[in-house]
Amino acid sequence: MRVSPDTTSPAVPIIIDCDPGHDDMVAIMTAFAADDLDLRGITTVAGNQTGEKTFLNARRILSLIGAHDIPLARGCDVPLVRPLRVAEDIHGDSGLDGADLPAPRERVSPLHAVDLIADLVSSSTEPITLVPTGPLTNIALFLRRYPELIDRIASVVLMGGAVAESNVTPAAEFNIYVDPEAADIVFRSGLSLTMVGLDATNKAMLDPDDIARLTASDGQVSCIVGKLLAFFAGTYEHVFGIAGAPLHDALAVAVAAAPDIVTTRDLHVAIETKGDHTVGRTVADVYGVTGQTPNASVALDVDVDRFRTLMFDVFSQLDTICR
Ligand code: RIB
Ligand code: CA
Repeated sequence: MRVSPDTTSPAVPIIIDCDPGHDDMVAIMTAFAADDLDLRGITTVAGNQTGEKTFLNARRILSLIGAHDIPLARGCDVPLVRPLRVAEDIHGDSGLDGADLPAPRERVSPLHAVDLIADLVSSSTEPITLVPTGPLTNIALFLRRYPELIDRIASVVLMGGAVAESNVTPAAEFNIYVDPEAADIVFRSGLSLTMVGLDATNKAMLDPDDIARLTASDGQVSCIVGKLLAFFAGTYEHVFGIAGAPLHDALAVAVAAAPDIVTTRDLHVAIETKGDHTVGRTVADVYGVTGQTPNASVALDVDVDRFRTLMFDVFSQLDTICR
């Protein structure tokens, strides 16, 4: 299956840096199932849960979908400066509550995530797109540790931030809030940056009927995904009063293959790293009042019907692969 309707476009080489996490799981599934994405590797970071738990969850997800050969490495367990803040209220104690998952994949890289990214980028014949879907700790450290590889990065398509939304505080989105210093490094890097934030991802929702349809499926992957997303939707209902499961991270992966699935504006985005009430805010200069050159293509809306169809195509493809 393809994310993009353009059948002439070559597969986009990507590395996902994630903190699974229910929506990170769907991001990994999307990248693995899509023929127009070339998933070169996965790295994990602490965020939704501890570094130990997000790494274990990634190993379990790769076992579930039969992704035995995708390189996987564990990254940072703590943000650059601040103590770790997890999202147990959203993703549960394991970080992926809601269903029994298969035994974790044993084969993992001995490298640290930052070094696996460097290894994959430096050995690639073409520039690679980084798709971070958790706090940006690993990505910031990669940029600091390997500045000579920056020109081997095609772009960064990240899930994070927001122009007019928030979740973890009234001012901030979780991935940016957990490590705002790392986000500041990434947004000042000069790399081609697409910010897939809550303005778009909160609309990239599977509704309760979609989730019930998955849970009732005969497909092994669809059924497990349905149970996991039922848990995720339950916590979203409890915390935010929202009915459904917003697949924030899966949208970022979709954008890497098909940028036109979202509507974007080029804006200057600064990261607030101080403010008692505003730390972690992605401060988007919507009216250009600062006169600063835009440093990000910011997603403001999404083709929801196209996204939902894509999600069911992904799960159907994995049901076929994992029969
Ligand atoms: O704010 C949503 C983001 O925070 C998603 O990436 C979710 O997985 C959590 O990491
Ligand atoms: Ca995430």
